[in-house]
Amino acid sequence: MYSAEQIEKIHRACIIAAGVLTALEKNISEGISTFELDKIAREFIAARKAKPAFLGYRGYPAALCTSINEVVVHGIPSKKVKLRQGDIVGIDVGVFLDGYYGDTARTFKVGTIRKEAQTLLKATYEALMQGIGQVVEGNRISDISHAVESHARRYGFSAVREFVGHGVGASLHEEPSIPNFGEPGKGPRIVEGMVLAIEPMINAGSFEVKVREDGWTAVTADGSLSAHFEHTVAVVNGKAKILTEWG
Ligand code: MF3
Ligand code: CO
Ligand code: CO
Repeated sequence: MYSAEQIEKIHRACIIAAGVLTALEKNISEGISTFELDKIAREFIAARKAKPAFLGYRGYPAALCTSINEVVVHGIPSKKVKLRQGDIVGIDVGVFLDGYYGDTARTFKVGTIRKEAQTLLKATYEALMQGIGQVVEGNRISDISHAVESHARRYGFSAVREFVGHGVGASLHEEPSIPNFGEPGKGPRIVEGMVLAIEPMINAGSFEVKVREDGWTAVTADGSLSAHFEHTVAVVNGKAKILTEWG
């Protein structure tokens, strides 16, 4: 659990992470490469005397994860990968500042997207907010999981099982892990001072994923679209305070 002073520091890292996404949103358009997006993110973070948290994490080679269409998470930025009209692109960023981490992700549309993609973005964002709604002192971690999965199912979509949300703060990934599916009422109790990264990954088709040859890029097994949204939240006065408001 974190003190108010520590949460304040985590918040500073989170504000920079959220700022990266806001800055990138303006640059999302047909033709820009994911490498260029990564460069913008690195400059934004460096200008604020912070560090990209993903760069070098378990050998990961970039500041961002950029996950297009059927890519679920951990797409690696590349000069060869350019955004195209009709794509959806998930951008995940972690920031390290003054001993603490912030972690946030959004999925953006490139130009006009088809109906199913639009519904998927809406459902995934809503699933995130439903999950955050369960972050109440006295609830249990799997109440978040259950809320996320139920919401995905309401739309006929499925929640990815292979990757989880997590505690965050002094490390990028810490206890507890927060699955995006399962029965409610299980796992650790939610208590004051917890800081959690809640991050539903929702597939339009089946929940199964596979990892490409590069060892990172996770894609849907059936080639269906996937979306990802993530906020870092702290339990303050018994309920969730979002630290990564995108603004
Ligand atoms: N997607 C992960 C998260 O939000 C972090 C990615 S770590 C990296 O928790 F090394 F793949 F970048
Ligand atoms: Co993240
Ligand atoms: Co995370």
